[in-house]
Amino acid sequence: MAAQPLNSTARAAMEAMNAEAAGLNIWLRTQANAPAQRGWFHDTGLEAGGRVAQGRVGANQMKAAPHRWRWAEIGPYLDRIAEIARTADVSPIEFADRQQFLLVNPGLGGRLQVASTIRCAVSIYNPGDVAPVHLHSPNASRTILSDNGGYTTIEGERCIAARGDLILTPNGTWHDHGNDGATPVVWADILDFPLLEFLDCSWIDEDFPGERDGNSRAQKPAHEDGYSARLYGKGGMLPGFVSHSRGIGQKTSPVFHYRGSEIREALDALRDEAGDPCEGITLDFVNPATGAPVFPTLGYAAQLLRPGEATRWKRETANAFYIVLDGEGTTEIAGRSFDWQRNDIVVVPNFLWRRHINRGPGDAVLYLCSDRPLFKKIGQYRAQGRDDAGEVVQLVA
Ligand SMILES: [Fe+2]
Repeated sequence: MAAQPLNSTARAAMEAMNAEAAGLNIWLRTQANAPAQRGWFHDTGLEAGGRVAQGRVGANQMKAAPHRWRWAEIGPYLDRIAEIARTADVSPIEFADRQQFLLVNPGLGGRLQVASTIRCAVSIYNPGDVAPVHLHSPNASRTILSDNGGYTTIEGERCIAARGDLILTPNGTWHDHGNDGATPVVWADILDFPLLEFLDCSWIDEDFPGERDGNSRAQKPAHEDGYSARLYGKGGMLPGFVSHSRGIGQKTSPVFHYRGSEIREALDALRDEAGDPCEGITLDFVNPATGAPVFPTLGYAAQLLRPGEATRWKRETANAFYIVLDGEGTTEIAGRSFDWQRNDIVVVPNFLWRRHINRGPGDAVLYLCSDRPLFKKIGQYRAQGRDDAGEVVQLVA
């Protein structure tokens, strides 16, 4: 039987008591949780968005909105930041740690996050810039957008960046960034920062105990370039003489560097496979020692949509955050259509139906960051798809 709504007299009486009770730091419930609690099995409309509850139940409640950041609009701000840095008496990297802008989800009230668990910044490093060596609890990654140049050194492994590379700085690894090339370099930083903030577990240490690189603020490389690839670059074979744990973090991948050229090659080698009807051709980045996602909280994947490919509808309890590495197309999210091209960024908040369409003449390549690993660990991962007839099917019930 459906719950009986409170009549207005009762609600008014309750609210009057609430006025008194507020000083005791309690609230007498006068509203239902819905729609703060959303439907899953029965609420399947393609246009169902992230509704926000009203009143006290909805107080401070925020839901991420689907959104696309166009590179053509946001990219020029990097040039302006770089110009300020070049001409300033004190470079922004000195007083702000980074030269970057952060992406702000329009549904989250100005918070510096793109989804409930994910933060993204886009950074520029001028020639000579160094972000000093440090270690922190959030897991982080960078997706390289500029063609060449820049580096991140992680636990003594220097990773020279090129477009399309994914460079990981797992929690508890000492890392520093810089640009020793001749032109500015740009990358997108993705972190599980909002989750760690929520858990009140975000911390940083800048007191690097190891040897520094000359008198700079960077760590001295301890391995030859390509160390990760030499140790773990052959699928299915693990070196037996090293620990597969690097840094003081737990349950993170010992591989720090995935090269864009190799990612593209691996996707291309699978292009004639059927792929997943909701995702196309995908490759997950995993910890080679365990097969687990590279971070306990966030998972990363590369996705190939072949010319003309249109995926089926899908929705998940997890968030999906995409960077467009190549191609042009559209992602439809909860009844809205977001066109994208190279370097555009798209967020699909959890619960919302989505599908991708490659509308260009060539391949489209998306890099995905998802908090699916976290949802799986807490026993909350579900996914639904739609078949050709539009019927909802449980992919992960
Ligand atoms: Fe960092």
